[in-house]
Amino acid sequence: MSKTYWFAVLLVFLGLLAVSLPVFAVPSVVQSTPVASPDGELEIATEAQLQAAHAEWTQSAHASTYDSGMGANTTCARCKSPLNWDPTQNLAQEEALNCNACKRVPGAPRPELESGVQVAEMDWHNITCEICHIPVEDSYYTNVSFWDQDRGRYQEVDSVMELCGKCHEGRHGFEVVEEQETSNVHAEMECTECHGAHGHPATCEDCHDPMTGNGASEHIRHENVNCTACHDAGNLSIWYDDEFLSPHYGEYIPRRFAHTLTSWPSHDLQTGVDCVRCHHPQGRYLAVVASKISCEVCHEDGAAIFWCENFPRDLEPNELQSGLP
Ligand code: HEC
Ligand code: HEC
Ligand code: HEC
Ligand code: HEC
Ligand code: HEC
Ligand code: HEC
Ligand code: HEC
Repeated sequence: MSKTYWFAVLLVFLGLLAVSLPVFAVPSVVQSTPVASPDGELEIATEAQLQAAHAEWTQSAHASTYDSGMGANTTCARCKSPLNWDPTQNLAQEEALNCNACKRVPGAPRPELESGVQVAEMDWHNITCEICHIPVEDSYYTNVSFWDQDRGRYQEVDSVMELCGKCHEGRHGFEVVEEQETSNVHAEMECTECHGAHGHPATCEDCHDPMTGNGASEHIRHENVNCTACHDAGNLSIWYDDEFLSPHYGEYIPRRFAHTLTSWPSHDLQTGVDCVRCHHPQGRYLAVVASKISCEVCHEDGAAIFWCENFPRDLEPNELQSGLP
């Protein structure tokens, strides 16, 4: 084999590599001015602040959104890695919003969408600092803005909620802002009051002690039930999560459609709890959620004996003659 042959092979290979790695605009130039905080201050992060923020961010879901199991990954890049999203190649995203494009067989891997582009993990940006902060010198303004990949410039945001809403609002599986705003109990709270600015893990117990106050006795005997399953006001269905890799494995928890049916800690919460939601069948075909708990735990009087579990109760059982037994 001649040297020229190998040189030609190398050229073809490099050429293929170049077209297969989409490189999109990284916001290196400040293209709009940041918005000053309510007290009028524009602050540039100090080295110590940068390090603290970076350490927190690294732990957050925003730092690792690469997903090889969801078909070609630019399909979801608008939210998962805006810098890898090419707004001019929007076809894959439209395909993704059309449920039929997937024709997904339950349990089978998700098919590749024709127009999606596979980006290698090393070229995947995730949700980096410059999505929410305008770069300045070799640091960032601490004030928040939102990088608009479509227009190639920063957008002003009036509040932290508006920033989070750029991705956690109005898209299948990301409607947290809507839930939060209708919530009875936390409606006034911003996302960052519980999650921190850079996503430290949040639990209900950070602020509530389930062992005291009203409900303590229920809290104690419902060890495996997610707090939001009982306190959900959004009428989500509840299941037992038996997927070993799920962060909610072994919990009774609400679920909703987020690409597939997934466990979903509700943000639409209330104080009151409806016991029969899990302890009775819901409608004709839905089994009892807490299926291992006997009816007699609550109906010592025997009321349960006179009830057929599979069909709704006939309030007038003897009204019509039936040929069937
Ligand atoms: C998803 C959006 C988002 C991303 C990504 C992000 N930040 Fe922030 N950052 C925020 C928000 C929100 C605040 C709080 C602003 C407020 O409360 O007014 C904040 C605050 C800060 C502050 C001020 C001090 C503090 O911690 O409150 C610094 C410094 C900072 N961020 C640096 C960074 C750095 C460095 C990165 C990348 C490693 C980063 N941020 C990534 C949203 C983000
Ligand atoms: C550019 C889009 C984008 C913005 C802006 C954004 N997020 Fe996210 N966020 C995501 C995506 C995508 C995920 C899910 C990652 C995954 O499941 O792969 C996520 C996940 C999360 C999680 C889940 C953590 C976990 O452990 O699963 C929290 C909490 C969160 N975001 C809070 C926030 C808050 C608070 C803000 C506003 C300061 C914000 N996000 C702004 C895209 C965004
Ligand atoms: C009152 C506190 C509170 C507020 C306000 C709040 N969250 Fe949460 N959020 C939590 C807790 C606690 C969890 C974890 C629940 C669990 O795993 O049982 C959570 C979980 C999440 C998750 C992960 C869902 C999953 O799949 O596990 C996301 C995403 C999220 N929050 C985003 C947001 C966004 C965006 C906002 C603002 C609109 C917000 N949260 C406001 C407390 C809060
Ligand atoms: C950052 C702190 C914080 C976190 C985290 C938090 N809450 Fe709250 N919660 C509050 C505050 C503040 C109130 C309103 C003051 C009050 O009534 O105690 C409240 C109120 C409530 C109430 C109404 C209390 C009443 O007396 O009627 C319920 C129920 C509740 N939260 C459940 C939850 C659940 C479930 C979670 C986890 C998903 C959670 N909270 C996470 C701060 C928090
Ligand atoms: C089995 C269902 C169930 C689960 C699971 C559950 N709760 Fe409750 N919770 C209740 C009931 C019932 C009450 C009392 C409601 C009332 O007063 O109307 C209550 C009351 C509360 C209150 C109000 C307390 C007060 O003194 O007013 C808070 C806060 C609360 N729960 C938080 C939580 C947290 C945090 C978790 C998860 C650790 C949780 N709950 C899990 C059933 C539940
Ligand atoms: C979100 C679903 C859900 C709701 C709502 C719910 N439970 Fe349960 N309950 C369960 C599950 C699941 C168990 C089994 C225990 C476990 O796995 O944590 C259980 C167990 C029980 C037990 C048996 C406990 C034992 O020690 O054997 C009683 C009694 C009970 N629940 C009463 C109630 C009452 C009263 C309410 C209303 C205040 C209620 N439950 C609301 C899911 C629920
Ligand atoms: C966690 C406690 C709990 C468990 C367990 C439970 N129930 Fe109930 N049940 C209730 C409550 C509370 C009501 C009253 C509901 C209402 O009025 O809306 C009720 C009402 C009923 C009624 C109507 C009684 C009447 O006189 O109208 C029947 C029948 C019944 N339950 C049967 C069952 C059967 C069968 C099971 C077992 C699958 C069961 N229950 C398990 C709490 C429970």
